[in-house]
Amino acid sequence: MARYTEEQIEQVRSANDIVDVIGASVRLKRSGSGYVGLCPFHNEKTPSFSVNPARQMYKCFGCGVGGNVLTFVMEYENYTFPEAMEYLADRVGIALPKKEFSAKQREEENLRLTLLEINAKAAKYYYAKLKSPQGKLGYEYLQERGLSDETMRRFGLGYAGQSSGELYRYLQHEGYDDRTLQETGLFKMDERGVYDKFWNRVMFPIMDANNRVIGFGGRVMGDAKPKYLNSPETKVFDKSRNLFGLNYAKQGKRKKLILCEGYMDVIAMHQAGFTGAIASLGTAFTEQQANLLKRYTDEVLITYDSDSAGVKAALRAIPILRRAGLTGKIVHMEPYKDPDEFIKGLGAEAFEERLEKAENSFFFEIDVLQQEHKADDPEERTKFIHEMARKLLVFEDKVQRDSYLEALAAKYTVPKEDLKKLVIRYSSMEPEGYREVMEERRQNSRRQSENSEPDGIQYTYQLFLSWLVEKPEMYTQVKDIIKTEDYLEEPYRQAADLLYGQLENGQCEPAKILNCFEDVEQQRTVSKMFQTGFDATMDRREKEKAINELLFRIKERSIEHKMKNLTDIAQLQELMAEKKALQTHEKLHISLKDG
Ligand code: CTP
Ligand code: MN
Repeated sequence: MARYTEEQIEQVRSANDIVDVIGASVRLKRSGSGYVGLCPFHNEKTPSFSVNPARQMYKCFGCGVGGNVLTFVMEYENYTFPEAMEYLADRVGIALPKKEFSAKQREEENLRLTLLEINAKAAKYYYAKLKSPQGKLGYEYLQERGLSDETMRRFGLGYAGQSSGELYRYLQHEGYDDRTLQETGLFKMDERGVYDKFWNRVMFPIMDANNRVIGFGGRVMGDAKPKYLNSPETKVFDKSRNLFGLNYAKQGKRKKLILCEGYMDVIAMHQAGFTGAIASLGTAFTEQQANLLKRYTDEVLITYDSDSAGVKAALRAIPILRRAGLTGKIVHMEPYKDPDEFIKGLGAEAFEERLEKAENSFFFEIDVLQQEHKADDPEERTKFIHEMARKLLVFEDKVQRDSYLEALAAKYTVPKEDLKKLVIRYSSMEPEGYREVMEERRQNSRRQSENSEPDGIQYTYQLFLSWLVEKPEMYTQVKDIIKTEDYLEEPYRQAADLLYGQLENGQCEPAKILNCFEDVEQQRTVSKMFQTGFDATMDRREKEKAINELLFRIKERSIEHKMKNLTDIAQLQELMAEKKALQTHEKLHISLKDG
């Protein structure tokens, strides 16, 4: 159900001048009747990002993104549609009605807000303590580890006092009841009373991507065990969906992110200027975290500890990144254990060099494989080569697989033809015995065709609808050829339905369509759908050709789908005729006017 009315969306959109909003994060220069600047969504040296105040739209002629003030905020801040609405409403002092909740939902939402409020207060309490005389131990410990005052402030580091009831008494005094405090995960309770979970530790507040404190890590200042203690999962702390440091790492241009193991590593890297550093939260790297990262980057540098546990963790993370469509690279830090120690030992410049020399993650996997087999034993070497051949099956793209095959053959002096034969042999043995590799490959290709790959059907829908938004005058021709039921997948079908509905009434308001999707992932998909305009370099004929190719694919797929699910034979003839018409371009063709 739509959360905001059309009037509300229009009110928020029109009250926020697009030049002001974008101008706050992108330096814009006047150019003719509009403005230009460096595109915040891709790296460039000459400005191809333009903002049109009359139309209240932006468009990048380099990477193709474009949209209105709401889609800008969604993309730039990585907000959902409701978050973007709230942000922009706030900005101009419009009060939006709160979401309609059932009593139970309202109660839960209130609890979440209270927990966040308590976390923020606890973080402030710990920070104030660190800076007070009672926090001397913690402060000196962090200084000893090379952290500046500015870094402690930026990461909100703190100190949990000497006794085990301080925070409890403070929060109780602030008026929170035991039941609520229990939910924060900051306390232990038994029949004798309530105790602070953290005491005599330096504290690392864990923030989500929107700077809200959702939990804590606490480190002992010596060698006691456990070294780190973390908040348990709570209603606001989901360890598998958050990353330490992401609130800072996500800022600015799309850049390489640096994935490491520890809080101290993240902080040390940021202090040394590597502001893309992030870490998982005392647990293994997850699929959801990889998907989260995918919103901000295409490439992740892995700087896990250089011990065997670190290697193991990296081997686990690589396929997860690959499946999310991210390129992973391994940074070697020998002879140091982790980035924190490396930077202390050799400095930021040397670290930068290591980042530049990061190893292709596939080669890293093969290297590890080689180390597991003794090189001088022919049996072991045979096994290694077989394993290598099997691993090559993760690449489904033949060109890609062949170039890796060639590189490996040269690197490990294996005759190319032999390796090739093995690969062919294993590829015909699927899936028996190679389930893991096959599964990875399957997931890879599924993701690729669904999401970003230019020949995926999802991409076809995305482009087609996007161009329809850009040239709504096409609608009169489109509607007779591609009906909404020809879009076979959600959220495309629903989005098309809503868009057709608007166009039918002579409107074209993508933001209102976004408003109808509750699911965050769907919102993202739909928002992309309305932002991939025509390539500016295309002329009329090229556009026409491109649009008809998309149209053909959509229609053909829909017809084939119907044929597969055919129930009545009369229908078949109809479909055959339709298919023939499609192939001969008879009627089923869109022509564009100039411009
Ligand atoms: N960790 C944890 N519980 C522990 C030990 C570690 O949750 N008992 C998590 C923490 O998130 C920590 C990360 O694992 O940041 C890495 O741990 P480790 O490599 O042992 O520590 P360092 O990051 O090197 O920490 P330090 O430099 O403070 O010793
Ligand atoms: Mn360390």
